[in-house]
Amino acid sequence: MLIIANWKCNPQTLKEAKLLFNMVKKGAGDIKGVKVIICPPFTYFTTLDPPASAKAAAGKRPSSLKLGSQNCFFSAGPFTGEISPQMLRDLGCEYVIVGHSERRALGESDELINKKIKAALEIGLKPVLCIGETEKERKQGKTKEVLKCQLKKCLIDLEPEVHGLKFLIAYEPIWAIGSKNPCDFEDAKEVRIFIEEILAKILGKTKAESIPILYGGSVDSAIASDYIKESGMKGLLVGGASLDAKEFNSIIKKVAKA
Ligand code: PGA
Repeated sequence: MLIIANWKCNPQTLKEAKLLFNMVKKGAGDIKGVKVIICPPFTYFTTLDPPASAKAAAGKRPSSLKLGSQNCFFSAGPFTGEISPQMLRDLGCEYVIVGHSERRALGESDELINKKIKAALEIGLKPVLCIGETEKERKQGKTKEVLKCQLKKCLIDLEPEVHGLKFLIAYEPIWAIGSKNPCDFEDAKEVRIFIEEILAKILGKTKAESIPILYGGSVDSAIASDYIKESGMKGLLVGGASLDAKEFNSIIKKVAKA
């Protein structure tokens, strides 16, 4: 099982970031069967896991606790304000969230997301591709159509030999994010099965079966273990609740027991 903490643009000080990270590190330390991936803002990476002693730091950090990024660019070079996949890899980062709806809302297209996925895979980062429908699309019965289109466009032209295809999918219905209104288990299960079918068409059945599908959107400790049990998801992507160490550690414990 995987639990991803998406800190988004939080916390506001390095002191708070360190405190939060250290509390989660303690909480996740002796948990078996759950991989926890912390995705902090770029600026906190080196302090949370210093690159100069990356190997030693990895030794100190429980092996079940990994670092991920909330975004990356698809290239190095003259791109003001961007961060390349290689820079992230160099810092000990292993995962990268791509296509989060909050980035899509700023203008990120499926085509751009596809470039980011390819660049991340080429350097050995595991992309976590976020897909999801708006409330309007859901009400219009277009959920599956939207998800299929996002998957096809974002995963176009991936080649197993070049890209390795070690990535994850996070189903994040946009209406459920930060709304305290998670998607219900049954609907999430139906979507999970649908995503598996589409992945099998795009990647072939065997490859598709190796891609973990996670759920994100208003997850808290009250629903975490039932979510895993009822929806058949391989993990959770947690936003707001990951900023509260006690609450997040409780999610980790519950998922470990599920
Ligand atoms: P949330 O955010 O848990 O606060 O709903 C999830 C996400 O946006 O990744």
